[in-house]
Amino acid sequence: MHQDIARVLIDEEVIEKRLDIIADRILEEFSGRQFVVIVILKGALVFTADVLRRMPIPLEIECINVASYHGETKSSGRVDFLDAKLPLVEGRSVLLIDDILDTGRTLVAVEEKLREQGAQMVKSCVLLSKDKERAAEVEADHVGFHIGDEFVVGYGLDYKGLYRNLPYIGILKSEIVEASR
Ligand code: IMP
Ligand code: MG
Repeated sequence: MHQDIARVLIDEEVIEKRLDIIADRILEEFSGRQFVVIVILKGALVFTADVLRRMPIPLEIECINVASYHGETKSSGRVDFLDAKLPLVEGRSVLLIDDILDTGRTLVAVEEKLREQGAQMVKSCVLLSKDKERAAEVEADHVGFHIGDEFVVGYGLDYKGLYRNLPYIGILKSEIVEASR
């Protein structure tokens, strides 16, 4: 285990097994319909790569870059779209993938934007959903794991840009968070 991690919340093996189920459910949901996958960078990168490799169908992948945490462990309450141009989604079915549903602001803002741009159908999938009251009323169509209201890192999720490469989901030691304040 990485020296900055206090404990592992979800290990690699458990994630792998869950991805098989999520991939099957998504395939069922779109059953034969062409769709474009939109990955919310950077957090959903690792999860998306692993879940899409379980879907042996023709699909397109696009990315969008948004930020809401700005390097802290609490949401800033603002969702910034960082791309000059968004993927073309007019008339298309979209699977939106994010790493974690926290306040819900990101998912709401991105879904709204895609509908505004003419997407015909938008379904969402998140690896993690925090069980808490949300700022925006939203739930993802597909959820990997429900977790408590704790700050987690690994498997794509970061703290100040680090730990995305850890193969599991873990909780940081409190001194790591405190030391960098
Ligand atoms: P929301 O807009 O508050 O739902 O936050 C979603 C975004 O905040 C996610 O895409 C993550 O990038 C980030 N985030 C929320 N909770 C965590 C966490 O526990 N660890 C790392 N990033 C998080
Ligand atoms: Mg993120």
